Amino acid sequence: MSAKPNLLSGMQPSASSLHLGNYLGALVNWVRMQEDFNAFYVIVDLHAITVPQDPNELRANTRRTAAQYIAAGIDPSKSALFVQSHVPAHAELAWVLNCITGFGEASRMTQFKDKSQKAGTDSASVGLFTYPILQAADILLYQPKAVPVGEDQRQHLELTRDLAERFNSRFGQTFTIPEAHILKETAKIYDLQNPTAKMSKSAADPKGLVNMMDDDATIAKKIKSAVTDTEGSIKSDWENKPGVSNLLSIHSSLSGESVISLEERFSGAGYGVLKAEVAEVVISAIGPIRDRANDLMSDQAELDRLLASGAEKAKTVANQTLAAVYDRVGFIKPE
Ligand code: AMP
Ligand code: TRP
Repeated sequence: MSAKPNLLSGMQPSASSLHLGNYLGALVNWVRMQEDFNAFYVIVDLHAITVPQDPNELRANTRRTAAQYIAAGIDPSKSALFVQSHVPAHAELAWVLNCITGFGEASRMTQFKDKSQKAGTDSASVGLFTYPILQAADILLYQPKAVPVGEDQRQHLELTRDLAERFNSRFGQTFTIPEAHILKETAKIYDLQNPTAKMSKSAADPKGLVNMMDDDATIAKKIKSAVTDTEGSIKSDWENKPGVSNLLSIHSSLSGESVISLEERFSGAGYGVLKAEVAEVVISAIGPIRDRANDLMSDQAELDRLLASGAEKAKTVANQTLAAVYDRVGFIKPE
């Protein structure tokens, strides 16, 4: 591998399509970062079964997620894009880390508290409880300097750093202490129907989110029915005009034109004019990615081959870390 520092990030294969928020908030940065880092991008199917899943849907979503990442610019010849269950070291290191994590420490993870409350404490699985420890294993196997994640993952990164330091001090220097690279708030995209809420796959109204796999007509329709306000002026004012501000921000993030320049250009125009242009900008950015993703999915053998080669690259690094860990904790080597 090259002398560039390592980077790792992970994404859940939990939806049939990424949405515009995932693309602008995370994926665009991942594509950019693969130039400066030796990047490992893992589709976390082991994490996906911490809540009940449909097996056929999981299979389909894993491939769809991979296809969208490649279509959006993750280059399998530069980065290792792979599926977590293809690299057994993730589950193996997670076990060792489970054994150095305090029960109380794991109980303080807020994502578990939120998700288990939703599921009802009795139906929450032990897998959901140890989810952050598996995530720590994902990260530490690759000795990454940087871990690009959203703000919601900050606590899991802190746990990862604590576990790495604990292991190193107990058993000798083994893990690089990773830095969270929290992706900037500026790229946050809001729901088109409820513009004070983050665009999210769990949106109450499907019209509120633009999916990467939506066809052109659907994208146009969703943007044209975006909630605005009755004031009638096109300017960015998140407090009083969140809908219009969100449309301007989406335009600007995709077109590269500044919000100020957009405000000037649209001064005196109606919301319909703004929406028509935002729809055009979104379609011209996302349309080609969707089409490429569909092409990739139509050749499943080729897609699976790309994922297999990503897993081979990942294993070279992961198995080396795992071997050091197994040795340090006192496991004897098999004959
Ligand atoms: P999720 O699918 O919600 O787990 O998000 C996956 C990644 O996409 C995370 O890094 C989030 O920070 C990012 N993301 C999700 N929703 C948005 C949004 N509405 N705006 C910006 N980034 C987002
Ligand atoms: N927990 C992350 C999320 O919900 C996904 C994830 C799993 C991850 N393993 C990771 C992110 C390792 C970064 C690094 O978004």
